Amino acid sequence: MNHDQAQQRIDALTTQLEEHSHNYHVLASPTIADGEFDRLLEELVRLEGEWPDLVRPESPTQRVGGAPTSDFPTVAHATPMLSLDNSYSREDVVAFDARVHNGLDETATVEYVAELKIDGVALSLIYEDSRLVRAVTRGDGAQGDEVTNNARTIRSVPLRLREPGITCEVRGEVYMAREDFAALNRSQQEAGRPMFANPRNSTAGTLKLQNPQAVARRRLRCFTYWIDRAGFAYATHAARLESLRHLGFPVNPEWAHCPSLAEVFAFYGRCEAARDDLPYEVDGVVIKVDSLAQQEQLGFTAKSPRSAMAYKFRAEQVRSRLLEIRLQVGRTGTISPVAILEPVRVAGSTVQRATLHNADEIARKDIRVGDLVLLEKGGDVIPKVVGIVAAERPAGTEAFRFPDSCPVCDAALVSYADEVARRCVNPACQGQLKRRIEHFCGRNAMDIEGLGTAVVEQIVDRGLVHDIGDLYSLNAADFAELERLGEKSAGNLVDALTASRQRPFERVLFGIGILHVGATVARNLARSFLSIDRLAAATAEDLAEVDEIGPVIAQSVRDFFAAPATAPVLGKLRAAGLQLSRQAPEDAADDSTQATFFTGKTVVLTGSMSRYSREEAGAIVERLGGRTSSSVSRKTDLLIAGDKAGSKLTKAEALGVRVLGEEEFLLELGKLGIS
Ligand code: IVH
Repeated sequence: MNHDQAQQRIDALTTQLEEHSHNYHVLASPTIADGEFDRLLEELVRLEGEWPDLVRPESPTQRVGGAPTSDFPTVAHATPMLSLDNSYSREDVVAFDARVHNGLDETATVEYVAELKIDGVALSLIYEDSRLVRAVTRGDGAQGDEVTNNARTIRSVPLRLREPGITCEVRGEVYMAREDFAALNRSQQEAGRPMFANPRNSTAGTLKLQNPQAVARRRLRCFTYWIDRAGFAYATHAARLESLRHLGFPVNPEWAHCPSLAEVFAFYGRCEAARDDLPYEVDGVVIKVDSLAQQEQLGFTAKSPRSAMAYKFRAEQVRSRLLEIRLQVGRTGTISPVAILEPVRVAGSTVQRATLHNADEIARKDIRVGDLVLLEKGGDVIPKVVGIVAAERPAGTEAFRFPDSCPVCDAALVSYADEVARRCVNPACQGQLKRRIEHFCGRNAMDIEGLGTAVVEQIVDRGLVHDIGDLYSLNAADFAELERLGEKSAGNLVDALTASRQRPFERVLFGIGILHVGATVARNLARSFLSIDRLAAATAEDLAEVDEIGPVIAQSVRDFFAAPATAPVLGKLRAAGLQLSRQAPEDAADDSTQATFFTGKTVVLTGSMSRYSREEAGAIVERLGGRTSSSVSRKTDLLIAGDKAGSKLTKAEALGVRVLGEEEFLLELGKLGIS
């Protein structure tokens, strides 16, 4: 075979493979047996190996070819990637429709397109001469991260368009199907790594993995819903969707052209009823004005187009039988009631356990074993029992009696006057010890990978560990004896323990689990007292001077150091070489020298953000010279409010405190070159 013949064969194979791949991944109707597809692909791989100059970036062999990336360059979007206004009720949608009509000529008739709102992550795809050249995340809306090599692994994203010579930008939603999400979380759990709360988080995390091969294994998928094509004017949104389909992009088939609001509501109703049957998660419907001339006339607010809105679904409720109320002991001795249920599917996963909050809640709702209960899954992984179906209570149930003694160690439970929780206050309780060790090893504390529940249960039950200080005297032989732990994992655990000796003082302080001392308070304490010895010697007055420390925390810190069990544990941690004092400020990354938007500001964070956890966002603010605080007061300069912000937002608004939404926060970070 000469060069020309090789070129011809490569072209033919590429076209065939693209076609079959499109049929399989975009149209979901395979036109070739898997084995046959593999045979064609192998032939292509072999030919490209023989003729390396004929390998093109858009070749089907190049989906997973990208080299690992350690950073994702920031790229500005040609048109900002905005978000959508949310609504949860018919009235909101009617009001939206009225605003749309107000913004247009009196005689205008408005038609809508309604689509599913896919619970994933927005992505922009840039094509030049019909070849994928760049993929960029939404980022702060103005600029995002270039994740091209990772996006190439998404099988339904075409590397080459089905028509030549096209320059365009396409936007869509990358998502993880329910089954892939469940499989991922299973493997996370088995590996002792943190589970993802929802497919959106796992998708966002996956797009930012450094190794495209790992991304490919997670099987991300995509639906596109927007195209801007050079030299081409679309008249309607529906025409855009049609064009996307024509060019080979995946377009969700569940969309409707709605000549009036009645059809929009009908579509919403159909989708809400069918949402559980979909193989991916959706959180609502997106309503868009169909005419692009009207869209243009309506324009944009700072955050979103006036021509579109998201109509969210209400949290889904399901019923299940309550089989048992099990009591769990937390690390501070709090006893939490957990509902054990007949397995039931809710929001895409099978649920057998749910939180019952506390004894008062059970009493208030009169929840009894045997009841049919109502379950809801909010933004959290753990579903909640929100009520009972009183009419269907079986005969012979009894009101739940909260026990008087600890389910693990049998010590009498205590309820403090100002708390709803019942506590086990036995310092030797093994139930508490297990949870304390888990907390110490957790991601925001010492971050000891692999030391999860299964290992903790065993090392405590076998008497290998009596407090967190004992962890550092465990060796590979100790671990190797545990069930379901091979030699390799045992070695990894020892390595993880060794590495954790370098965690900074503030993490140790958080990890040792002083009641009421969360990550932020631990950081403030570490900064003010610089070492564990000075903190142990602090008086109530010394403590009261620290930001965010009131009498309750001050007392709890003093109680902790006064407790007889504390000194021996600290002795062991000291002997193990942990960081029990703060390193000099010059090597601490958090003392920024340049003034930024956040310098000197007291900042409170509330609600949940999609980009960062509250802890991460707080750490960023502090690195940029701001101070974080947990409560809003007159002294607060700024409230950063994510999704579902509650009373803090109300209070900030009442006090006239400046509020930044997630987008605006990201925008400020963007200005400082942080993405
Ligand atoms: S249109 C101006 N259509 O929802 C933004 N967005 O809050 C126009 N999303 O960032 C977006 N499904 O990530 C649109 N069918 C759909 C969508 C969709 C999911 C996401 C997207 C966007 C967010 C808006």
